[in-house]
Amino acid sequence: SPVAILLSGRGSNATALIQAAQNPDFPARICLVLSNNPDAPGLDMARAAGLPTKAVDHRPFGRDREAHERAVQEALLEAGAETVCLAGYMRLLTPYLTNCWAGRMLNIHPSLLPSFAGLHTHERALQAGTRIHGCTVHLVTEGMDEGPVLGQAAVPVLEDDTADTLAARVLEQEHTLYPRVLRHFLTGARPAPTGAHALVVG
Ligand code: GRF
Repeated sequence: SPVAILLSGRGSNATALIQAAQNPDFPARICLVLSNNPDAPGLDMARAAGLPTKAVDHRPFGRDREAHERAVQEALLEAGAETVCLAGYMRLLTPYLTNCWAGRMLNIHPSLLPSFAGLHTHERALQAGTRIHGCTVHLVTEGMDEGPVLGQAAVPVLEDDTADTLAARVLEQEHTLYPRVLRHFLTGARPAPTGAHALVVG
């Protein structure tokens, strides 16, 4: 089914979703990769993968977040999207867009929610002395990083971790978790947990 990806930067999670969707057995077809940042490396990556891309720059809209979102929504509908995956989309959403996609918009967040919503999650996890950290895929609701959890993967925090080493360990899990959760979300087929990858799905 048609899935759109929204990103703002690097696009490594988008890459993981795109690669998963190249498998004919995967239930998603990526119908659009959209960015608010026209210079996002993730847009170039998607273009190189031969996918439809679109930049909807937020800057011309100034403080009018909803007007920007209406332009984004138009592009999503035009592309025929039925599900939206946020993958490093660094814009706070207004209730306009979250309501348009209620129950059909997923996000990946680099912490075990509800711990460490918001930014700088790895620094904050280290600061707090947590021993277990990870990532979460959740449904997007009005509150930032607050919607129901669809899946999580956990990693250990090691003695000599820096924010960068911890981020890299989490990111590797993100790339596995997001396609697995999207597959489950679209088909209801529950994947079996593997290895250190603790998957908790619906
Ligand atoms: C990821 O850590 C994701 O969890 C967070 O933003 C980062 C995006 O990275 N929401 P990328 O653009 O997918 O490489």
